[in-house]
Amino acid sequence: PSITLIESNGTEHTLNGETGQSIMQIALNAMVPGIQGDCGGACSCATCHAFVDERWVSVLPKMEDTESDMLDFASERQENSRLTCQITLDESMDGMVLRLPESQY
Ligand code: FES
Repeated sequence: PSITLIESNGTEHTLNGETGQSIMQIALNAMVPGIQGDCGGACSCATCHAFVDERWVSVLPKMEDTESDMLDFASERQENSRLTCQITLDESMDGMVLRLPESQY
């Protein structure tokens, strides 16, 4: 499946990932600026924050409380905010678009 990440400056990155990889891992492998993933995917840093395109919000599994609690530490949290380390890629996400925040803290 492929996903597109859009940086806050508008730069688009369309990336191919393997089913079972986290979106955060795919972004790090491609060295996309804007995703840091400081905690390595343990849901304890909030530096893998992204905004899921509205059309894709309902495709994703609901977030766990731990993800929601950690998102409170992300800057500019919005309705469609998610932590990308907590999203595991599968075929249903092929074509998904996520936007990245201006800063990751
Ligand atoms: Fe740390 Fe996602 S990589 S919360």
